[in-house]
Amino acid sequence: MPKRDFLAIPDFSRDELTALFDLAAAMKRQDYRDKPLAGKTLGMIFAKSSTRTRVSFEVGAYQLGGHALFLSARDIQLGRGEPIRDTARVLSRYLDGIMIRTFDHADVEELARFASIPVINGLTDLLHPCQILADLLTIRESLGGWEGKAIAWVGDGNNMANSWINAAGTLGFELRLACPEGYDPDPAILERNRAKAPIVLTRDPKAAVTGADVVNTDVWASMGQEAEQAERERAFQGYMVDDALMDRASRDAIFLHCLPAHRGEEVTESVIEGRRSRVFDQAENRLHAQKALMATLMGDPR
Ligand code: CP
Ligand code: NVA
Repeated sequence: MPKRDFLAIPDFSRDELTALFDLAAAMKRQDYRDKPLAGKTLGMIFAKSSTRTRVSFEVGAYQLGGHALFLSARDIQLGRGEPIRDTARVLSRYLDGIMIRTFDHADVEELARFASIPVINGLTDLLHPCQILADLLTIRESLGGWEGKAIAWVGDGNNMANSWINAAGTLGFELRLACPEGYDPDPAILERNRAKAPIVLTRDPKAAVTGADVVNTDVWASMGQEAEQAERERAFQGYMVDDALMDRASRDAIFLHCLPAHRGEEVTESVIEGRRSRVFDQAENRLHAQKALMATLMGDPR
């Protein structure tokens, strides 16, 4: 069997995603006792900071009987210029899977091309698909699924927004994005998925949120964009998710944020700590979703 990677949501079909969520839910219920990673090691390359991704992958690998290695990009030879294609082939001789968090998405694609073991995208400037797995699992738990639901995105057209667009295209739900001018999602990803699902882009957060079942946001300046903080704060005026905006959503709407959050910028304290917020279930679900992902990609066939 050829190895499989998970670099973007469309790497899995709708049926494969459903199977993944079923497995993740069984793992969460503790209805799953297998150790599909016994004797196996996941290497985790980080060129950016992380709390959730690092800890959930490491704990998840351990719970599945395997082991995870933290590899700071600064400390391995990659950080001194060793080519990605050499790193990929060397690591493939030791490891059973690689998770990588870095800047340029093309670097992750190159790593996957040269690695003979599964590669998982743990966030790039373009995409954050593992987070979307956890978000969809949270929506399934809180709302019973995404069929017939409207999902709103308020804020930057960043890696999270692009991954939501990929998810809408793959699963067919309605997605409404409100992004300030100059901060739109990736045009190619938007174009590709608009043909497959009702996806709208507006400048008006109220229009995106009115009647929505899920309201999502994220930081205004992502990792690597710290120098743009002040300029972005100006551009994103009016994009804070507050109670007045949430009140426009459907009665049972939930609020999601991948975290870390900046209270008083993209979201108010009362929304993130309020009754509609599911942000800590969402963070927990990183563990369950990624365990299902590792079992699927790296586990021995049953
Ligand atoms: N949401 C998320 O990916 O968090 P970390 O940056 O802490 O991994
Ligand atoms: N958009 C954010 C997500 C962090 C998990 C970033 O890239 O920094």
